[in-house]
Amino acid sequence: MKNILVTGGAGFIGSAFVRYMVDKYPDYNIIVYDKLTYAGNLDNLLPIHDAPNYRFERGDIADETTVERVCTTHEIDTIVNFAAETHVDRSILDPHAFVHTDVVGVYILLETARRLGIERFHHVSTDEVYGSIPEGFFKETDPLEPNSPYAASKAGGEMMIRAYHVTYGLHTSVTRGSNTFGPYQYPEKLAPFFITEAIDDRPLPLYGDGMQVRDWLYVDDHAMAIDTALHQAPPGEIYNVGGEHEMHNIDVTRLILKLLDKPETLIRYVTDRPGHDRRYALTNGRMRQHFGWAPQTDFETAMKHTVQWYRDNEWWWRKIKSGEYLEYYKRQYGERLAGN
Ligand code: NAD
Ligand code: DAU
Repeated sequence: MKNILVTGGAGFIGSAFVRYMVDKYPDYNIIVYDKLTYAGNLDNLLPIHDAPNYRFERGDIADETTVERVCTTHEIDTIVNFAAETHVDRSILDPHAFVHTDVVGVYILLETARRLGIERFHHVSTDEVYGSIPEGFFKETDPLEPNSPYAASKAGGEMMIRAYHVTYGLHTSVTRGSNTFGPYQYPEKLAPFFITEAIDDRPLPLYGDGMQVRDWLYVDDHAMAIDTALHQAPPGEIYNVGGEHEMHNIDVTRLILKLLDKPETLIRYVTDRPGHDRRYALTNGRMRQHFGWAPQTDFETAMKHTVQWYRDNEWWWRKIKSGEYLEYYKRQYGERLAGN
């Protein structure tokens, strides 16, 4: 492993992974390939901008010509794919881009890897491919029952990966991560959205009864789990990556307000997300047994750090909250919050 293409490396988790890898492995060349959609942001890569083992190439993972050119130019031997459309609410409003990137884009990357003889392909997937679980924990052998267009497109991408491993013998691996939070997360997802809205004393729209459960994983733990799987996973293997910290949405919201010293009167219960999965929960058994990996970060400490990061880095998020963001906000929350 020498020349690694990190697709989607200008997004939230991808950039955390890149910052971590550039520092940890000075002998690897890390080439970020990213379309810079609304969620891609070169500010996320500023801390490593001048690192000698980092390069950036702009492009779409579904654009075969550009993917091939970049892989050939940089003599890529490894692909780690983070590139995706990632927000469930946007997938409900407009699924098209999700199928383009999360299914077709994954196929183009796989096909390029096969044609050019790229040795290693790691794909970053999600616990949402399993659907909802009322009790107990999903394990890797459970059936996939995705419920949102986002989850279905991620499951579709995973099926192509399986096929390329079984049919063509490509050395693939997949990690299925749970709800990730931390610095540099686009402020549409629950944690950064509510933190930045609460800083401005604006209403926090909590879907349904707020009793949905998510398993919360700190972004640095997620990045380290991917590094572990990339280096150690046998061909064709799949690993759950959970934070081992389940919480109801209402309790995450209350914690954010407490950390910001803001009143709970900011909470507004609004019309639920259609098809809203009630609970996600994973077992990390396989990651623990195969590699001795476990999440290292205490949830409350990490959330405190995250809240402080958004307080200290208004330069990063204030400029995002304009233009397209405001149009999306209006579509998603306008009616929900009207008269609330
Ligand atoms: P993000 O939305 O912050 O970033 C996605 C990145 O992909 C952006 O930089 C964007 O520009 C890029 N991108 C989108 N379409 C592209 C295309 N066609 N070609 C090239 N680049 C493209 O996402 P994230 O939250 O960092 O998630 C990264 C990966 O991790 C995704 O595959 C997601 O499904 C998965 N995941 C996310 C979470 C989470 O809680 N955020 C949890 C588990 C798994
Ligand atoms: O589980 C992993 C997944 O986590 C990733 O694959 C996705 O890319 C990521 O977006 C995340 O999906 P969720 O749908 O769980 O995350 P989101 O932040 O959108 O919502 C978290 C919970 O909070 C969910 O139950 C919906 C709820 N919610 C969210 C928003 C944005 C609200 O109640 N109000 C909101 O405004």
